[in-house]
Amino acid sequence: MGTDESKNKVTLAVAADHGGIALKNHLVGLLGKWGYDCQDMGTHNEESVDYPDFARKLAQAVAAGDYRLGVLVCGTGIGMSMVANRVRGVRAALCSSAYTARMARAHNDANVLCLGDRVTGFGEAEDILHTFLNQEFEGGRHARRIGKFDPVENG
Ligand code: RB5
Repeated sequence: MGTDESKNKVTLAVAADHGGIALKNHLVGLLGKWGYDCQDMGTHNEESVDYPDFARKLAQAVAAGDYRLGVLVCGTGIGMSMVANRVRGVRAALCSSAYTARMARAHNDANVLCLGDRVTGFGEAEDILHTFLNQEFEGGRHARRIGKFDPVENG
């Protein structure tokens, strides 16, 4: 499975807790094969860690523009998505299929993909990641809707 020509312009960060490390490591290897510039932000061993620490670190780096997109993996993907979405400027999507990944990019301009290692098989996760990376945001009415995410700040 390959990617389009824009891959070299996409900088990615990937992180996981102990519940997501196996899938995270698998995806980091895959991203390397696909030619992406990918930063592995840990965790790096099976020791139990707290997913909010990893989700916040990656989400803040994406929000700061250090990376264009991020991938977070925990056991279910739920905790990672909850924490990442508390960081302003981050739109994290917990995806369980290529369809939801495509819509997360096309309609929601998601900039962080969340996956559940204990929920989604590795083959499915590969398809989800590939779709997420290659689908562009459609803009238009979807941009208007995203502009309503933070109504107080946007007046
Ligand atoms: C860790 O056991 C587990 O709670 C975590 O990986 C994640 O699933 C939380 O949402």
